[in-house]
Amino acid sequence: MILVIGGTGTTGRLVTARLAATTHPTRVASRRASAGDVRFDWYDRSTHAAALDGATGLYLIAPVGDADPAQVMLPFLGLARQAGVRRAVLLSSSAIEAGEPGLGEVQSRLGGMFPEWAVLRPSWFMENFVGDHPHATSTRERGEIVSATGDARVGFVDPADIAEVAVRALTDPTPHDTEHVITGPEALSYADVAAILTDIGGRPVRHRAVDEDALAAYHEAHGLPPDFARLLAGLDTAIAAGAEDRTTSTVADVTGRPPRSFRDFCRDRLPDGLPTVGGAGRPGA
Ligand SMILES: NC(=O)c1ccc[n+]([C@@H]2O[C@H](COP(=O)([O-])OP(=O)(O)OC[C@H]3O[C@@H](n4cnc5c(N)ncnc54)[C@H](OP(=O)(O)O)[C@@H]3O)[C@@H](O)[C@H]2O)c1
Repeated sequence: MILVIGGTGTTGRLVTARLAATTHPTRVASRRASAGDVRFDWYDRSTHAAALDGATGLYLIAPVGDADPAQVMLPFLGLARQAGVRRAVLLSSSAIEAGEPGLGEVQSRLGGMFPEWAVLRPSWFMENFVGDHPHATSTRERGEIVSATGDARVGFVDPADIAEVAVRALTDPTPHDTEHVITGPEALSYADVAAILTDIGGRPVRHRAVDEDALAAYHEAHGLPPDFARLLAGLDTAIAAGAEDRTTSTVADVTGRPPRSFRDFCRDRLPDGLPTVGGAGRPGA
């Protein structure tokens, strides 16, 4: 039985849907019992043992927005091992190296704690432009993506491809026991992204390049908490320096098929064009 933490989230619900097509029973963890199969809150230890009961596999996402997730994750992972979990697959990020403070600490400990493991390190999600991420909101509401990335490129990846890799890592007879850096098929600048959104979405979208301070102020002015606004802006500075300008062959290597392009992702996710604030799509659609 595979316990899917974050099973209601971006990658977790895709992992759950794919696992449903296998013979592996799953259990979706959520802070709201009604949204999953079991109530689970990283910050409420009383929910941990019941969530783990009978589990042999774990899909893990960190408590979102926690600067020191190891504090709650490492004791839980110890409990999971004691409870009989053999295989753990952790969603991290291409931006986080094993051993770095924060999630990097969990990343570096995972292989020592579980006999079978994998760490997924995806680049930035394509989903950020269609979901409720700040980029999606500004695209929809203001026709712009504001970033401090300059003209640097990112290997944007479809969360469905991440989920496909995750399911292989959770269920392949031979454990992966490695880190997977996961990207889409090409690295795109935010101007490239804006051009594709304009093309497929049917409304003009532009990229406005600003510096890190201006970006933090922009995010804050549009409702993000100051700490999170600063964190997001800081990540852009790393992108501007070229940190995400790469593609990997992970999706093809692990799943046997190529990753989806951003253009195809948009065709699939924006069949009626970009929604306007009032909810309508492309005129005439
Ligand atoms: N967005 C990107 O471009 C990107 C790129 C690389 C890596 N990542 C990584 O992807 C991860 C997920 O990001 P996301 O924004 O897509 O989030 P998400 O998966 O959409 O949503 C968060 C999930 O976590 C669960 N959750 C939140 N707080 C929880 C808590 N205290 N206890 C238990 N469950 C909790 C939520 O479940 P309930 O609400 O049902 O409880 C929900 O299922 C992050 O670790 C991020 O670093 C993101």
